[in-house]
Order: sequence, then structure tokens, then C-alpha cells
Amino acid sequence: MIVSPSVLSCDFANIQRDTEMLNASVAEWLHIDVMDGVFVPNISFGFPVLQAIRRHTQKTLDVHLMIANPDAYLEEFKKAGADILTVHYESCTHLHRTISRIQELGMKAGVALNPHTPIEVLSEVAKQLDLVLIMSVNPGFGGQKFIEAATDKVARLKALRTKHHANFIIEVDGGVNLHTGAQLAAAGADALVAGSFVFGSENPVQTIAELKAL
Ligand code: DX5
Ligand code: ZN
Repeated sequence: MIVSPSVLSCDFANIQRDTEMLNASVAEWLHIDVMDGVFVPNISFGFPVLQAIRRHTQKTLDVHLMIANPDAYLEEFKKAGADILTVHYESCTHLHRTISRIQELGMKAGVALNPHTPIEVLSEVAKQLDLVLIMSVNPGFGGQKFIEAATDKVARLKALRTKHHANFIIEVDGGVNLHTGAQLAAAGADALVAGSFVFGSENPVQTIAELKAL
């Protein structure tokens, strides 16, 4: 299991300290949630914070854009240090073009699906995708309750991947803990995002190792 701790739940007054803690863990990726107050009803952080994290880690930066008009900023996210760039299906009119541009810029391209969006909308681009992010909460905030329907959605997405001979990584985001994570692992998730569960635990390094072992 790939573990991608969400820095949205870190202590922003101590980003360097918390990034170094993640560096010392078995997490392969760091999940970076960018929110613009338009696509989602919350504002998180932008380029300066991403650049600051990049300066303190060699790990893969898994950037999740919850913003309107992501096309306007793809190049800037590459420059700021993103390795994987995930856009929302719901914010891209010309999704094929957006995915192609992300890959041309030298990043892995992901597409996130809100809880209400059916997986079938990705059929035509499945083979081209590097990652699909299944939202198991409505995006915008950390610490929300896991939406149970996400587990079956992951299983169906795995079948869709096989049907289309695609290779994308299946990642799940929202309300992940050891219980929901075990369900998702059984359903076929390859990567788990966890924010409040990791940073709210007594020993985040150990919690990350427990998620990885699922
Ligand atoms: C929600 C974000 C998540 C969030 C997850 O909009 O996309 O990445 O940080 O937080 P938890 O793990 O607390 O649900
Ligand atoms: Zn996220």
C-alpha cells in the first residue's frame, strides 16, 4: 500500500518539522491539498507553501487541486515541485487536453472524482491516466466521516481498469483510518491518503507504518 499523508492536517507553524517527520516515515508520497474557495468552500494554501515543502523533502509530492480552472496553473505547479498533479473531473471541460498537458510537463496525471460522480465518465481516458483519486468525502475539509459507498466504487474502478487494459493507480482520499483503510485495501485501493488520522495520532510515524501494512 502506498501511503500519502495529507499535510493539510499538519501544524502550519511547523511545516519543516512535520515534513521531516514524514521524511523519517515509510510514507512514499506527501499529499498536498490546494483549495481555492471557489471549487470547494474552503481555502488552504498555494505555491509558496508547496515550494517550502519541496525544499524539505525528496518524497513524491502528490498534489490534489480542488480549484476552478486548473489549466491556468499547470506549469506553475510543475515549477513549484509537483510530481503527481490531480485535477477534478468536475472542474475540467476539456479533460483529455488537461491530462495531456500535465504529462507533457513531465508530471504524472491524476483525475479525482467527487462522491456523486460515476466512474464511467473516465472510460475514454482510462488508458491515458496515471492515477484516479476516489473521494470518500466531499472535498474541502479534513476530518470528515468516510462515505461507505466509496469502497464498492473502488472495486468497480478496479474492474473498469482491467476492462480497458489501463494501469492507473487507485488512490482514495477522505476519512481513511485503519478500519476504512482495510476495507479499501480489500476492494483494490493502491494508495491511501490520510490526514487527521495520521496527524491526530500519538505516533504518526507508527500510524503511517500501520496503514502501509494494510
Ligand atoms: C479533503 C482533502 C483530503 C483531506 C483528508 O478535501 O482532499 O486530502 O486532507 O483528510 P482526512 O484524512 O482527515 O479525511
Ligand atoms: Zn486531498
